[in-house]
Amino acid sequence: MNREHSVAGMSRRGLLGVGAAVLFGKKPGRTSDARPAILGGEPVRRKPFPSWPQVNELDERNWLQALRECKWWRREGHFVDEFERAWASTLGVNHCIATANGTGALMAALEALEVGPKDEVIVGPYTFIATVNAILARYALPVFVDTDPETMLIDPAKIEAAITPRTRCILPVHIGGNVADMDRILEIAKRRNIPVLEDACQAHLAEWRGRKVGGLGQLGAFSFQKFKNVPGGEGGAVVTNDRQLYLHAYGFHSHYRSPGENAPDLAICRNGINLRMPEFQAALLLAQLTRSEQYARKREANARYLTELLAEIPGIRPARMYPGCTRNAYHMYMMRYEPEHFEGLSREMFIRALRAEGIPISNGYGPLNRHPFLEHTLNSRMFRSIYTEQELRQWRERNHCPENDRLCEQGLWFSQPVLLAEQSDMEDIALAIQKIRRYAGELARRSSG
Ligand SMILES: Cc1ncc(COP(=O)(O)O)c(C=O)c1O
Repeated sequence: MNREHSVAGMSRRGLLGVGAAVLFGKKPGRTSDARPAILGGEPVRRKPFPSWPQVNELDERNWLQALRECKWWRREGHFVDEFERAWASTLGVNHCIATANGTGALMAALEALEVGPKDEVIVGPYTFIATVNAILARYALPVFVDTDPETMLIDPAKIEAAITPRTRCILPVHIGGNVADMDRILEIAKRRNIPVLEDACQAHLAEWRGRKVGGLGQLGAFSFQKFKNVPGGEGGAVVTNDRQLYLHAYGFHSHYRSPGENAPDLAICRNGINLRMPEFQAALLLAQLTRSEQYARKREANARYLTELLAEIPGIRPARMYPGCTRNAYHMYMMRYEPEHFEGLSREMFIRALRAEGIPISNGYGPLNRHPFLEHTLNSRMFRSIYTEQELRQWRERNHCPENDRLCEQGLWFSQPVLLAEQSDMEDIALAIQKIRRYAGELARRSSG
């Protein structure tokens, strides 16, 4: 019997309805009509979800080898070179530059595209602040294009209207591992002759029409920070198929040394900084990479099952994928919460109640394009010396993303280790949500009273 369609001989509708008591046994807390833990009942689970990162002997061996070889600088050692080759080959791209972190990878990529003062970069607001900080670090302006609430990704239908003669780059973010509509983005970019830099910092091994993301546009950036699907503590990578862009980004990441060069040739080099990855990170990442495909498959299978279970619950709407997304990396399992289906229970109270059931859920991103940090930046001496009052006023007038504002009020997510649990753990999630929904009215009254 196919477990994805029917569990223990019951239809999925039965699983979360009256049949739940049979399936989950008579244990307290494990029926959808049991009293929620936040109201004094038993939680659905006490067992923790998997922790992250996960470490094995290969990680330890590689790390110790890097330590004992005492060649800790990338120019002496071999781990960073090996990791660059391995990541390029995993993605099917010609070039990879390992960097100290994902923010640095974005900055090196923007440098390679010569994005700088007075330029505009098109970006979605539903992202981690690092995407926008990398643009601001170049003294360029992020031009926010509204979010498609169904996919939580940049709305491709709204990109073209945001292009001006100053647009120097389109920067789609594959947020949560879900893939932006690359067919439409690449088509617009090609027609308007604007390069595309993919922020794939959350999208390791995700695919668009069978091709790994990161290598679809002119450049791609990855993060290997500890919570990422391929973790190295800190770390990042720039990837590209274009040799000139590679050489420029490589130079920038190491005071403009060329690949293989020990010292920069000051007669020909230009400005750069130090964004090099240390050997330790690369040694660890090489070990982690041997397991990343296995983890990716598990996340995908559990996400598919969870989506089926959640389809039964009104008011919880998992992010859709564009048809071209052939693999979601599920760095986050993203959803929208509609309180009208939960008798007006606020998202904050829903989160508290679900956490009390032993389910680690979080709210999604806030409206980054409206955050005060942007005004603080634009009011800095540096920005005021680059941009006129009129230019900043025009930027403010364009900065409206109503769909994103609404999404930020509704967003929820599970972080990726939740999807590394067992299939039965996905059933716990659905059961806990059903419990909360059944008592939503009482919870809503209590939290407003
Ligand atoms: C979408 C996105 N872009 C960029 C970054 C920056 O990566 P790092 O933290 O490695 O600098 C992150 C990291 O969380 C991210 O999630």
